[in-house]
Amino acid sequence: MVGAAVQVGTGFLLRAWREMDAESLAAHANNRNVWSNLRSRFPRPYTIANARTWITRIASGHERGLQFAIDVDGIAVGGIGIDVVSYNAPRLGELGYWLGENFWGQGIASRAVPPVCEQGFEKLSLARLRAVVRDSNVASLRVLEKNGFVMESKLRRSDRRPRSAVVEMVYVLERGATARQWVTPSAESPAVLPA
Ligand SMILES: CC(C)(COP(=O)(O)OP(=O)(O)OC[C@H]1O[C@@H](n2cnc3c(N)ncnc32)[C@H](O)[C@@H]1OP(=O)(O)O)[C@@H](O)C(=O)NCCC(=O)NCCS
Repeated sequence: MVGAAVQVGTGFLLRAWREMDAESLAAHANNRNVWSNLRSRFPRPYTIANARTWITRIASGHERGLQFAIDVDGIAVGGIGIDVVSYNAPRLGELGYWLGENFWGQGIASRAVPPVCEQGFEKLSLARLRAVVRDSNVASLRVLEKNGFVMESKLRRSDRRPRSAVVEMVYVLERGATARQWVTPSAESPAVLPA
């Protein structure tokens, strides 16, 4: 599903993926430092063909959830979205996000998370959201904690490399916790634009 476009304060926009994003998507996604923190379905290397497949899947409605491109000055430099994990009550979604490395440290992910969670709760009728983060991923842990996610459990999983393991933290946000816990400065408040 394609979510309504969101202007998040200044500096970036959340919008639907477009066919013309394939080149910039591949350029920003084809990075070990991005890939190593994401789920195994995120390809490596990330080719233009991979990018086209992803954009086509979303446009054709194959993705069960909401997906947005993170747009800086008209260029897609990252992605954020929610996959529906369970349709049974309580309906659960999983939040995921990434950004091209040149754009790290500008507060983009911190500001992108709240409006996407809000659309997830409203449009997908979710009861809860989870995010699964490696314990070494300090930036992502901080993004989640700043936005009201609470650590629920720790998992030890085998890594992509043989004989090694990673610790993943499961963070959750319950529907209704959002408005109370989000700490979005008023000047940066998200405004939902027409779809
Ligand atoms: C995780 C990711 C999306 C963060 O995006 P970002 O826009 O750079 O994040 P923000 O700038 O909004 O916030 C990062 C926060 O982490 C903090 N941070 C970053 N690196 C840190 C470190 N090494 N130690 C301590 N804090 C750190 C920043 O100071 C900031 O916190 P603050 O606002 O309190 O100062 C980006 O690093 C990324 O794409 N990583 C690869 C993919 C990934 O990990 N996705 C998430 C999977 S769960």
